[in-house]
Amino acid sequence: MSEPFRNAYEDKVKADAYSKLEFPNSYYLAYRDLPGLISKHVKGRGAVDFGCGAGRSTRFLRRLGFETVGIDISADMIAKARGIDPGGDYQLIHDGDFSRLAKRHFDLVFSAFTFDNVPGRENRAKLMSGLGALLNPEGRMVLLDSTPEMYTREWASFSTKDFPENAHARSGERVRIITTDIEDRTPVEDILWFDTDYLESFEAAGLELLEKALPLGHKSEPYKWVNEMEISPWVIYVLKRK
Ligand SMILES: C[S@@+](CC[C@H](N)C(=O)[O-])C[C@H]1O[C@@H](n2cnc3c(N)ncnc32)[C@H](O)[C@@H]1O
Repeated sequence: MSEPFRNAYEDKVKADAYSKLEFPNSYYLAYRDLPGLISKHVKGRGAVDFGCGAGRSTRFLRRLGFETVGIDISADMIAKARGIDPGGDYQLIHDGDFSRLAKRHFDLVFSAFTFDNVPGRENRAKLMSGLGALLNPEGRMVLLDSTPEMYTREWASFSTKDFPENAHARSGERVRIITTDIEDRTPVEDILWFDTDYLESFEAAGLELLEKALPLGHKSEPYKWVNEMEISPWVIYVLKRK
């Protein structure tokens, strides 16, 4: 039997390496279109950052003017976030426990690269539903995750060529990837989820899709794009509660 899925970010070495990561290369592309999408869809300034990690995404939201609570299940990542940004609000949570956050209160629930680390169909829908309950009636959820293509190609910030088995993975199965922008080159295990899986989870969680974006790199940008100009490694979903 295979080992249970382990969150790669519950690890001091990975947390340390990740905490030095800002927005190089493919990460620039991941975040590039978010300010526009968020200002188009989100009114108000109260945000939750689900899977805040070492706080990069939380600090990004704060720079956009959001009062943001970052939440994560990894003690190592939360410790890094607090160390980098002592004035920030970072909370360690038990998996799926949002009880410390006010329900129907937030204008934005944001999550960057978290749901591609979350195993189990029902588990995902349950988390999305719990996060949806934090939104006020006008609130919006914005999820940024990897596309399935991420795991079978090369990118400015990632390599998957050593893992040809990724091409045969089915939805909900593990895939491996190396982030070439950080010192720690040990592969991370993610979970492969297709667009149809996200759409099913949204339905099960009572969420309605408002917009989906697949950002592509442009020639004029100062990055050595590999596949980013033809295929998006990222998908962004904008949702509201039904
Ligand atoms: C790839 S990191 C992204 C961190 C941050 N959002 C960023 O953009 O830098 C993913 C984070 O999601 C967290 N995570 C994974 N599963 C989670 C869960 N069920 N609840 C909360 N956080 C989770 C991990 O601990 C990790 O810190």
